[in-house]
Amino acid sequence: GTGNAVLKTKKLIKNDYFLMLLPDDLIVKKNCSKAMININKKFKSSVMASMKVKRKNVSRWGIYNIKKRIDKSNFIIKSVVEKPSIKTAPSNKAVIGRYILPKSIFSKLKKQKSGKDGEIHITDAIQSLIKDKNKFIAHNFSGKYLDCGSMQGYIKSTLEISKL
Ligand code: G1P
Repeated sequence: GTGNAVLKTKKLIKNDYFLMLLPDDLIVKKNCSKAMININKKFKSSVMASMKVKRKNVSRWGIYNIKKRIDKSNFIIKSVVEKPSIKTAPSNKAVIGRYILPKSIFSKLKKQKSGKDGEIHITDAIQSLIKDKNKFIAHNFSGKYLDCGSMQGYIKSTLEISKL
């Protein structure tokens, strides 16, 4: 799982925070990473890219709910759950594959038991950090999202990129 992949980078991470990008979630037209780095610096907080998804699709994503609104595109996260069912999803606000994570996530990942579908999920380690009172901000990015995680999305994204 994603958490296990992140754990493999432990030796390379020297700073308090690091940026992690999932390669099948492209955000084009605006520099989303730069916006997230600014939020990280301003609020001394972890950050996750986010957007609303259709309720019928919540089980494809990590889904979070809000503790506090900071401004129109930034929210303090109350809790996050990996790929919930429509019935149990706390909202339709999804985590997109771009994160600024604290170094302390490595000690969580080391102890992390496998979760949904037997994988070590970064989402579960994040939820564990939130429970320990670490601040995580969801950032509703302003760029264009290209989902390469499905065959249809991949083909659509390729066409979009050819037009850039
Ligand atoms: C991963 C994360 C999930 C997140 C998604 C974004 O899932 O585990 O929380 O919402 O990326 O694309 P994956 O797409 O690897 O199944």
